[in-house]
Amino acid sequence: MATPSVHSSCSFLANKYLISFCVFVCVNILSSLDKGFALSTHHTDVQLSSLLPASTCSSSTRGLDKKKASLKVVHRHGPCSKKSKPNQYKTTTPTHTQILQQDQARVDSIHARKGDNLRQTDTSIPAKSGSVVGSGNYIVTVGLGSPAKQLSLIFDTGSDLTWTQCRPCVKSCYKQKEPIFDPSLSKSYTNISCNSPVCSLLTSATGNTPGCSSGTSTCIYGIQYGDNSFSVGYFSKERLTLTSTDYFDGFLFGCGQNNQGLFGGSAGLLGLGRNKISLVEQSAQKYSRFFSYCLPSTSSATGYLSFGKGGGPSNAVKFTPLSTVSEGGSFYGLDVVGINVGGRRVSIPASVFSSSGTIIDSGTVITRLPATAYSALRDAFKQGMKSYPQAEKLSILDTCYDLSGSSTVSYPKIAFAFSGGLTLDLDATGIFYVASASQVCLAFAGNSDDSDIAIFGNVQQKRLQVVYDVAGGKVGFAPAGCP
Ligand SMILES: *[C@@H]1O[C@H](CO)[C@@H](O)[C@H](O)[C@H]1NC(C)=O
Repeated sequence: MATPSVHSSCSFLANKYLISFCVFVCVNILSSLDKGFALSTHHTDVQLSSLLPASTCSSSTRGLDKKKASLKVVHRHGPCSKKSKPNQYKTTTPTHTQILQQDQARVDSIHARKGDNLRQTDTSIPAKSGSVVGSGNYIVTVGLGSPAKQLSLIFDTGSDLTWTQCRPCVKSCYKQKEPIFDPSLSKSYTNISCNSPVCSLLTSATGNTPGCSSGTSTCIYGIQYGDNSFSVGYFSKERLTLTSTDYFDGFLFGCGQNNQGLFGGSAGLLGLGRNKISLVEQSAQKYSRFFSYCLPSTSSATGYLSFGKGGGPSNAVKFTPLSTVSEGGSFYGLDVVGINVGGRRVSIPASVFSSSGTIIDSGTVITRLPATAYSALRDAFKQGMKSYPQAEKLSILDTCYDLSGSSTVSYPKIAFAFSGGLTLDLDATGIFYVASASQVCLAFAGNSDDSDIAIFGNVQQKRLQVVYDVAGGKVGFAPAGCP
């Protein structure tokens, strides 16, 4: 090793020239040492137990800013999700394989949407499917009607129409945890007529031309999802209450009379996409198209969904520009420029991300990357996890470890670089998908086709404060926004 001899010669040399020469050598040697150090990946430690959900809910008020309209966010399957009366409704929690399969169905339907708008004008055949509800979803509770009835809705940044199941359930309603909304018990409910211009907004928001009920001329919406879930019903106006002080009269929503699918006991969907009928657009006067959320790390913790700037985002929030994508108008596009593993940029040609494009989606569980980018990420991650025994793959997740022998896991940090100079460190809970201590998987998957759009999913968003400043054309992130 050269270092000790250089050091000793440094301390023994008194001659000025030699000292400056020595400084030159020392600095060079130190900087090359530094480079050598950077070549080995940096590791971060996490307690394995912190990646596992607890059996009881620990509710948090962190991020529930009084200056903003804030709702509590809970995972659909977990102890923080509202319990129903015994035997009234039994939630069957899906297996990890089912969750990941449903997630793939959502991703497939997003990929199938590419160019749907074009095809639609060409042939006037409506787009077959919108999004898939998926399974790894988060719910919030809102009030509907006067007096307001509480309803748990899946919030979805990848779709626009807000709907809930409605009495009298003319055709069919699935089981939900709360009583089904009954418009006849509300003073503020009104149907929308087929002649109303708002009725025609449904075409772009749902991908289906609205129907019209014979006789009463009530506007009828229909939205179907790639996994054969659907909701059909009356397009209506009603008072939507978000908090004790914030409500919206004449909020456009779907009053579902024929509903089927994997909505896991929730009463429907809250659409937060970019289309005109999304909640973001319908509340634009009050909240200026500004909202933020934090998805909790496990199903036993709570996060938040907030509307409006309130005191404005904290200094910790760093922004990247919003972009538009060809997969339809609902999605929020981001511009990924690279991925770091253990502090080092993984070698991925810049064109890989620029040609696929990327969206951020609250309803997709696992982040999807172009195949080329995924294999580069996986190989770098595997290098850094060499000391752990590998475990069997789990559905779409091909890189899993048996961590049952370790209470602390030392892993290479993963960071996403976005345009505008934003480098975002993912939380540990945003890197691992934990089936059990003996099967902990890298929570990323590759798209089969490099040209398919990349998706920044909800596992990777865990614990991050995610800020949508739609009017300002940017999305921001800050670490550790919720437990
Ligand atoms: C809304 O329209 C449906 C279908 O025509 C009708 O059955 C229902 O009574 C209407 N509700 C109200 C409040 O007008």
